[in-house]
Amino acid sequence: MSVDMNEDANTALNETDGDGAAGEERVVVWRGAGVGFSALDVDDAELLASWRVDPVAAHHIGFWPRPLSALRERIEQHVEDNERDDFLVLRPDGTPVGHIALTDQSQVDGTAEVELLLAAPYRGRGYGPAALDALVDLAFGELPMHRLTASTHTDNAPALAVLAASGFTQEGVARSACLHRARRHDLAQYALLRPEWERLDRPHAWDA
Ligand SMILES: CC(C)(COP(=O)(O)OP(=O)(O)OC[C@H]1O[C@@H](n2cnc3c(N)ncnc32)[C@H](O)[C@@H]1OP(=O)(O)O)[C@@H](O)C(=O)NCCC(=O)NCCS
Repeated sequence: MSVDMNEDANTALNETDGDGAAGEERVVVWRGAGVGFSALDVDDAELLASWRVDPVAAHHIGFWPRPLSALRERIEQHVEDNERDDFLVLRPDGTPVGHIALTDQSQVDGTAEVELLLAAPYRGRGYGPAALDALVDLAFGELPMHRLTASTHTDNAPALAVLAASGFTQEGVARSACLHRARRHDLAQYALLRPEWERLDRPHAWDA
C-alpha cells in the first residue's frame, strides 16, 4: 500500500547546493530528525544513477550497467507499484542526499523490506541513522506493518551499525547469497518487529 501524506506536505527549496538539484522544489512528504523525505520521481533517475555507480554503493548494493532510460522506466513502474514506497532523503535545506525505500510490502502479513543508499559525500554524517529511523516510524506509525527486514553484506560495517542503532536484530546469515566481481558474498539478515519498535526509547519522526 502506498502512503498518502500530502495532507502534511510542504516544500523544501534547495538554493545552495551544486549537486545537480539546485533550485529544485520538492514536496516533503515525511520528516525525521534532521531529514525530510520526498517521493522519488522519474526525473530523479539521473541523480539516482550517479549515486549507484559510486564504487562503495555498487559493491554493497549491486549495479548493472543499463541505460538511464531503463532506470527511468523502472522508477515509473515503482511509482505504480503499491507494494513499495520510494523516497529521496533530503537535508533540511532540501539537498537530496540519498534514496530510501520500503519494498515488498505485504498488507496481509504486515511485512516489508527496507533499502537505503546515501550519496558518497553525505555518508558518515548521521543521515543514515536519521533516515532509517524515519522510515521505520513511517512503516509502524502509518502502515500496519509488523515486521521489517533488511539485508546487507556481512562486511558492510556502516550498514550493520545503522541497522543495529535503529533497533534491528541480526537473525542470521544467508551464506554465499550474492555474486560480485566473481566472488560470493554472505548476506546478514536483519529484522525489527513492531513490539521491539514500541520499546525503543527515542522520539518518533512525528516529534521531530
Ligand atoms: C550504509 C549507510 C546507509 C550508512 O549511513 P551513514 O550515514 O553513512 O552512517 P554513518 O557513517 O553515520 O555510520 C553509522 C554508524 O556506523 C558506524 N560506522 C561507520 N563506519 C564504520 C566502520 N567501518 N566500522 C564500524 N562502524 C562503522 C559509525 O561509527 C556510526 O555509528 P555511531 O552512530 O554509533 O557512531 C551509507 O554508508 C551508505 O549509503 N552506504 C552505501 C550503500 C549501502 O551500503 N547501503 C546499505 C546496504 S543495502
